[in-house]
Amino acid sequence: MTINKEVEFNNIVSDILKNESFIELKYEIHHGISRLDHSLNVARLTYNTCKKMKIKNYNEITRAALLHDFFKSSEINGNSFINHPKKALDNSKNNFEISSIQENIIISHMFPMTKTIPKNIGSWIVTLADKMVALYECTKYKIPLTIGAVMLFFINFCFIQR
Ligand SMILES: [Fe+2]
Ligand SMILES: [Fe+2]
Repeated sequence: MTINKEVEFNNIVSDILKNESFIELKYEIHHGISRLDHSLNVARLTYNTCKKMKIKNYNEITRAALLHDFFKSSEINGNSFINHPKKALDNSKNNFEISSIQENIIISHMFPMTKTIPKNIGSWIVTLADKMVALYECTKYKIPLTIGAVMLFFINFCFIQR
């Protein structure tokens, strides 16, 4: 990311990164790293994608990307894979102003594993960014080398455009 973009990205998300509840995500393990770092990776990729596609409300979409996994594992009852988007949305609403666009971004980010359909371009970007980042993060830790190399090539290709 260029310095200008880095500064703008930081301005967009700075209040979220100062929120006490949100900061606690650094103690939650997610894909072998912290949930805070995972969320930042998704937010950065989302921001870069929005800029590239010249999407006007990139600010709104980037903030929702950062909040998409705003939950602690201890807060989830039952299947966390399915249930965490709702908890992330509740936590986001309790701590920040959330628009209807952001609401759909957070609640639909596990599509198609969950049935809530992404309804706006931001939701589609975040659900794809989340999966790409998850693949990248898992590749470093769990996926065999050859599969990892193919995935890394693809992910790097996307990241190189930053
Ligand atoms: Fe998630
Ligand atoms: Fe995620």
